[in-house]
Amino acid sequence: MTAGTLIILDHGVALLAVATWFAAAVTMALRRTGAAFVLLVAALLVTAGRVAAVVFLAGRGWWFVQEKVLLGVPLLVVASAAAALLAWPRLRAPSAGRGNRGVVAVFTAAYAAVAGFVLTFLVGYPLTLGGGLIAVALVAGAGLLTARVLARPEEEPPVPPVLAEVSRRRFLGVAGGVAGGVVVAGAAGTGAGLSAWPRAEAIDLGGGRAHTRRSAVPVTDLRGPSTPAPGGVRRAHTLVARKATVRLEAGPSVDAWTFGGTLPGPPITATQGDLIEVELVNHDIDEGVTLHWHGYDVPCANDGAAGVTQEVVARGGRFVYRFRADQAGTYWYHTHHASHLGVRRGLYGTLVVKPRHEARPAHLDLTLPVHTFDGAVVLSGGAEHLAPAGSPVRLRLINTDSDPHRFALAGAPFTVAAVDGRDLHRPGEVSEKTLRLAAGGRHDLVFVMPAAPVALSLDGRAALWVRPAAGATGAVTQDVSGWPELDLLSYGTATREPLRTAPAGRHFTLVLDRGLAMVDGAPAYAQTVNGRGHPSIPHQLVAEGDVVRFTVVNRSLETHPWHLHGHPVLILSVDGRPSTGSPLWVDTFDVRPGEVWEVAFRAANPGVWMNHCHNLPHAHQGMMLQLRYDGVTTPFDGTHTAGAGHGH
Ligand code: C2O
Ligand code: CU
Repeated sequence: MTAGTLIILDHGVALLAVATWFAAAVTMALRRTGAAFVLLVAALLVTAGRVAAVVFLAGRGWWFVQEKVLLGVPLLVVASAAAALLAWPRLRAPSAGRGNRGVVAVFTAAYAAVAGFVLTFLVGYPLTLGGGLIAVALVAGAGLLTARVLARPEEEPPVPPVLAEVSRRRFLGVAGGVAGGVVVAGAAGTGAGLSAWPRAEAIDLGGGRAHTRRSAVPVTDLRGPSTPAPGGVRRAHTLVARKATVRLEAGPSVDAWTFGGTLPGPPITATQGDLIEVELVNHDIDEGVTLHWHGYDVPCANDGAAGVTQEVVARGGRFVYRFRADQAGTYWYHTHHASHLGVRRGLYGTLVVKPRHEARPAHLDLTLPVHTFDGAVVLSGGAEHLAPAGSPVRLRLINTDSDPHRFALAGAPFTVAAVDGRDLHRPGEVSEKTLRLAAGGRHDLVFVMPAAPVALSLDGRAALWVRPAAGATGAVTQDVSGWPELDLLSYGTATREPLRTAPAGRHFTLVLDRGLAMVDGAPAYAQTVNGRGHPSIPHQLVAEGDVVRFTVVNRSLETHPWHLHGHPVLILSVDGRPSTGSPLWVDTFDVRPGEVWEVAFRAANPGVWMNHCHNLPHAHQGMMLQLRYDGVTTPFDGTHTAGAGHGH
């Protein structure tokens, strides 16, 4: 069973505990003794089931169960035991039972069950003292309130007035004490929560040393060479961001935000060693724009993170990006301000850099970004192509959406030559496999054109044909639905990659989840990292030359395509299964529900870098932080507000 399945199972059992405890309480309050007894037994069994589910889940990692083990489950077990002890005798011999301590105890167990369930969804990992105290206070308070509401003095055994007065006072004393405790605990919890509230400047050292550098370099000084390498040329472009109504290649027109009036924006191509120089002009995008070179390890001043590496380019403004095209491969660019809106509406384009010397250049080389416009999945780049039989063909697949896509190639065996722009080492030929492409990710497929047509399918539908001659038809397996996913972790051939075993000087753990957190100064049901939302997530601090390791844990039921700017990361393992194939260097990796990824990289590109979920709405909802190099500062306000409606 995957951890994702265990997480769902645990949620299910937790809900069932809530249902059975409430059912037992209500039937008991209604004096349906028989039914109440059966339900009480059921509730106790479900409670035992909950304990078992948590124990199983704990086997997948402490991050998955911490708040359950420390609070949710103990609270439920204690309340359940108390309920059983108090209710059992009354249910077995109803005549003996007067008063309502049993009912109140069973209700309280139900509240404890609710608290355990809610705690996971609102607080999650890590459990804070504040969150815990508030939960306990709420359960106790609800129990007290129930005692109040259910009080039936007329059914208490008759007692002499004097004694009645004494017991009443005693009851009031106890109730007052408990109520006072509840208030104090709740207030203490809230206070603890507030005082622990992280400031934007909080730093996570990842187990490494604190600041060591005295002189500070502003991020705006981190520019690369301003001339091409010998033999290279200067490639100048002007990209004008503007609104436009664009007719899609296949289908309707959309009201888009564009670079230059087209969807996607103008393709930027270069040969290794060229100098890329792009002037961005904002014609009429009120929200503001920037350009981020996704996956390209540009000097930090060119990274396009609004508020961090530059000011957002407001309407009427301009900004020049200049960097050397040192890395060959398939990349893309997109706005990095209000990107959850801007990228979706069309502010993106492709960036392809070809090697200066290529052994066997493709005869047909297609750049194929996929994007969803108003619910329609569109593969740009043309649906029909020709390539003579025997010629090499390269398909550069780029996922510019916030969700993964599935590709399959029917009609020819192929290799995945590159992932996220970086060549794989001795990739083998594969056929009848599907490829899952993470949000933001790229796969380069290479094949030799056969004598019959080849079809590329996208999410199960044929989206592109390559034919050996005009009008050539032929049998191509169209049904790709049963094909298994290619496992890149064991694809290609291993090399002696030193980073695989190098001890990490800094180790950061990122636990991804949903919960209550502050996002851009307002409370929200956020997408969180370690229980916090942007910009309250501590910055990760590294020093140049560090070997850095990330453990990325997904506690949620959604997929999170994790993306670090400025550095590719090497995949070490997924759920403890090591990468055994070609070294896999990626800039976006899809962390599915319940998964635990270990990745490493060398801190070799100084700057202040965004580190975020590339499901852009998730980033906007808080799932974003910064990786900062020791000694690098930003002259901007330092918070990358994800979008419109939050200032800027
Ligand atoms: Cu492609 Cu920070 O993003
Ligand atoms: Cu996400």
